[in-house]
Amino acid sequence: MKPLVIGLGQCSLDILGQVDKYPALDEKAEMNSLLVQGGGPVATALVTLSRLSVPVAIVGAVGDDDFGRQIREGLFQERVDCTYLSQSPHSSSQVAFVTVDAQGHRNIFWHRGAALPVVPKQLPSLLTDSVRVLHLDGLHLETAIAAAKLARRQAVTSVLDAGTLRPGIEGLLPFIDHLVVSEKFSRQFLGRDDPEAAIQGLLGYGSVVVTVTMGRSGSLSAGKGVLPFHQPAFAVEAIDTTGCGDVFHGGYIYGLLQDWPIERSVRFAAACAALKTRALGGRTAIPTLQEVESFLLCQDEHSSPEAIG
Ligand SMILES: Nc1ncnc2c1ncn2[C@@H]1O[C@H](COP(=O)(O)OP(=O)(O)OP(=O)(O)O)[C@@H](O)[C@H]1O
Ligand SMILES: [Mg+2]
Repeated sequence: MKPLVIGLGQCSLDILGQVDKYPALDEKAEMNSLLVQGGGPVATALVTLSRLSVPVAIVGAVGDDDFGRQIREGLFQERVDCTYLSQSPHSSSQVAFVTVDAQGHRNIFWHRGAALPVVPKQLPSLLTDSVRVLHLDGLHLETAIAAAKLARRQAVTSVLDAGTLRPGIEGLLPFIDHLVVSEKFSRQFLGRDDPEAAIQGLLGYGSVVVTVTMGRSGSLSAGKGVLPFHQPAFAVEAIDTTGCGDVFHGGYIYGLLQDWPIERSVRFAAACAALKTRALGGRTAIPTLQEVESFLLCQDEHSSPEAIG
């Protein structure tokens, strides 16, 4: 099936272990369970869309190692088109060690790997007529900027997941339609902890909507013709919050594809992310459309978007 969404960015292998408590320096901790699973902001957002029955394709790079083969296999099994997932010869893949404690909090140690960046010359063949959304996470920055410019020319909606403020990202921001950033990015961008002010500053780059996600505190959004609002996180007994942000982006893009008002897309995204926390691993419990719809039907008005100010 022709892809509706193209994602360009990180794909890694996560090695996740569940511990009762994160150990002190020089201490040991027994892991209650262990899981090896693909991860990465763009890759896991695409898996989310695929579970919601949206055809997707990934553009990225893995290394020429066992990890790379497992990353590709995981995406293939989730029906993510991997035609443009390149394998760099004699190089290592991105890997993350993730520990998850009894409250679902995670610590991540990650290695970038040495797979070569994706080159812009592959791009023109990617944004075909079927593609409606381009999803980026800031990796392969040069290609990401070229892709976002191309998307703008072809009226393809661009979405950026910005987790950490990295040099050069300001070259990408003017070509992003929907910017969804982490609380950490908002703090780094503004130099202080004030997501509402960060949103106003980031809107200056020209995005239609900017959202800051804040873990269990939900998310804040504002934009052109969108009054600032807060979406609470859904109250769930979280087992593992790894990948909540990635899954949120997948749900948000699903809403864009339906042409929903932004408030509805954000509430849907928050539901996808909350359901994701039911099991160990960034992808294990990503919901189907039916699961999200049933979950939302059971929620009360306290979980609805609230206007700010
Ligand atoms: N413990 C939780 N319970 C319910 N929902 C959660 C929880 N943690 C996160 N979420 C939902 O997921 C969204 C995104 O989470 P968060 O802000 O932690 O993303 P992030 O910082 O990008 O993290 P990552 O990229 O590592 O997944 C939140 O706005 C919220 O809706
Ligand atoms: Mg994130």
